[in-house]
Amino acid sequence: MLGNTPARWGLVTRSLHWLIAAMILVQLPLGFLMVDAYDAWQAGHGDPALVMKLSRAHNTNGFLILILVMLRLSWRLGNPSPALPGALVAWQRFVARATHVALYALLFIFPLSGWAALSAWTGDFPIYFFGWDNVFRIVPQAAPGSPFTSDLFGEIHESCWKAGAAILLLHISAALWHEYIRHDGALSRMWRG
Ligand code: HEM
Ligand code: HEM
Repeated sequence: MLGNTPARWGLVTRSLHWLIAAMILVQLPLGFLMVDAYDAWQAGHGDPALVMKLSRAHNTNGFLILILVMLRLSWRLGNPSPALPGALVAWQRFVARATHVALYALLFIFPLSGWAALSAWTGDFPIYFFGWDNVFRIVPQAAPGSPFTSDLFGEIHESCWKAGAAILLLHISAALWHEYIRHDGALSRMWRG
């Protein structure tokens, strides 16, 4: 079944959940490699072609994640959602909901801050999406003295993976706790429906 029901996650939600998770898994190392390659190039011993290649892949995958997350949230809001699994006490329900909201927020802030970092860049650095190397800017190039610099958005982008790693650890631990300690089938219903 494609859509969710009050009892189970449908195929669309499950596919998007795991596809986005896999794309993030690829996107994180791409980001670190890209920054390393850029730093090496700036230090005079790197390869600019490699920086462009990694940047093209990082931007394109990041934009795809953003599009899929928008689809996922629209689907979520337009479909019923199953109740949280198992009999949870109030604080557990709160932590579960807060973690999911934080994950959705990060899934937007992550790509948007990266896009803003490239947009505010004062040099001539392309913003790629597949063959298109001139994606529009979402913030203007930073004027001298402006507080909205590429560095500021870059810092936000960088904080996302630090916050994201902590929240994801909590998310994965909770999924395993549900599945293997409480045996309430939370993980299997996100996996098999
Ligand atoms: C969910 C999507 C994304 C994830 C998980 C992600 C992840 C990362 C990571 C881990 C880094 C390395 C940060 C560091 O060295 O501390 C990075 C750097 C960067 N990413 Fe992304 N990224 C995403 C989307 C995007 C998008 C859509 C763009 C641009 C269109 C982008 C542009 C950049 C830029 C410019 C940097 C270098 C920032 C700096 O060092 O100031 N990212 N990204
Ligand atoms: C980057 C990786 C991941 C992201 C961004 C992510 C994000 C999310 C979000 C936002 C939800 C809430 C769904 C909703 O209410 O609409 C969710 C649910 C869920 N996630 Fe993840 N997730 C990731 C990785 C994982 C992993 C690795 C596991 C398992 C080990 C997992 C297990 C689950 C389970 C079981 C649910 C369903 C909870 C329920 O039925 O109420 N997730 N995930």
